[in-house]
Amino acid sequence: MSYFNFNIFTFFLNFIFIFANFIPDSRWGHTSVLVDKKLYISGGLSLTNWKEFFYLDVSQHFAITALQWNDLTFTGPTLDVGSSIKQQWANVTNVGNQPTGRSQISCAKFGNGSIAIFAGYFNYVNDSKNDLWIFDSLALTWSLKNASNAPPDIWAYRAITLPDDAILYIGVPFMLPLYDSTTNTWKNLNTTGPTPPSRHYFSAVLTSDKRIKIFGGSSDNSSILGDL
Ligand SMILES: *[C@@H]1O[C@H](CO)[C@@H](O)[C@H](O)[C@H]1NC(C)=O
Ligand SMILES: *[C@@H]1O[C@H](CO)[C@@H](O)[C@H](O)[C@H]1NC(C)=O
Ligand SMILES: *[C@@H]1O[C@H](CO)[C@@H](O)[C@H](O)[C@H]1NC(C)=O
Ligand SMILES: *[C@@H]1O[C@H](CO)[C@@H](O)[C@H](O)[C@H]1NC(C)=O
Ligand SMILES: *[C@@H]1O[C@H](CO)[C@@H](O)[C@H](O)[C@H]1NC(C)=O
Ligand SMILES: *[C@@H]1O[C@H](CO)[C@@H](O)[C@H](O)[C@H]1NC(C)=O
Repeated sequence: MSYFNFNIFTFFLNFIFIFANFIPDSRWGHTSVLVDKKLYISGGLSLTNWKEFFYLDVSQHFAITALQWNDLTFTGPTLDVGSSIKQQWANVTNVGNQPTGRSQISCAKFGNGSIAIFAGYFNYVNDSKNDLWIFDSLALTWSLKNASNAPPDIWAYRAITLPDDAILYIGVPFMLPLYDSTTNTWKNLNTTGPTPPSRHYFSAVLTSDKRIKIFGGSSDNSSILGDL
């Protein structure tokens, strides 16, 4: 191959690599999970697509301005899994007190089979209820925790369970209330340095090296974000 041809060849190769790089749309209302150092992101609402499924390999060094996303969106025909597998939902009948219905919550899970929900949106009205409820999935009972110093009601936030079973709530405005489940108290974590723009409907995961990665969401001024 002559020098000239080689240059043309590498030029096209670069061209292909640049254009083959998958760049997901900004989105909100999606979900993410971290498995084997890969951050998988699924669904959400963007201007063009709501079925995308993609990941970022976070074991590699990455530049925040040029993320190497990998697209896994399934484009083939829908599989018919057949009727031999029993796929059904059952209603759980809990006993005793229970929280009022709500949306736009994020559920945190503890190591002992319990889950926690906090605040949220109530029948689409801005009804402030900064209540924290814990559901024991084994006894099927709810309990209301009246922990002092609870943050103002938040909605479309993300809850992250930390290794010590404390729950960190990431919400709007960008504050970091922490529920300490062992002492049943709230405190606010103070951060240093710049903070990301505040947002709703984003996704968040905790990494094994104790970082939290957030992606996308809807900002205070309703613009849709695509930043990590
Ligand atoms: C669960 O309860 C809802 C509301 O009462 C009802 O519409 C639904 O059919 C129930 N589902 C099952 C699987 O029993
Ligand atoms: C809900 O009401 C509180 C207090 O009036 C206000 O600060 C907050 O911005 C409202 N939230 C929404 C989503 O409208
Ligand atoms: C929390 O407050 C509610 C309402 O005031 C009360 O009914 C409930 O017993 C309290 N729960 C605890 C664990 O103190
Ligand atoms: C499970 O753990 C949570 C958080 O520490 C606690 O609030 C709850 O009471 C525990 N549930 C049981 C059944 O021990
Ligand atoms: C964060 O700062 C506030 C105000 O300075 C302080 O009251 C609070 O104790 C701090 N929180 C923590 C977890 O250190
Ligand atoms: C909306 O907020 C986002 C995030 O803070 C910012 O990047 C963007 O410039 C803002 N857009 C407008 C129109 O103010």
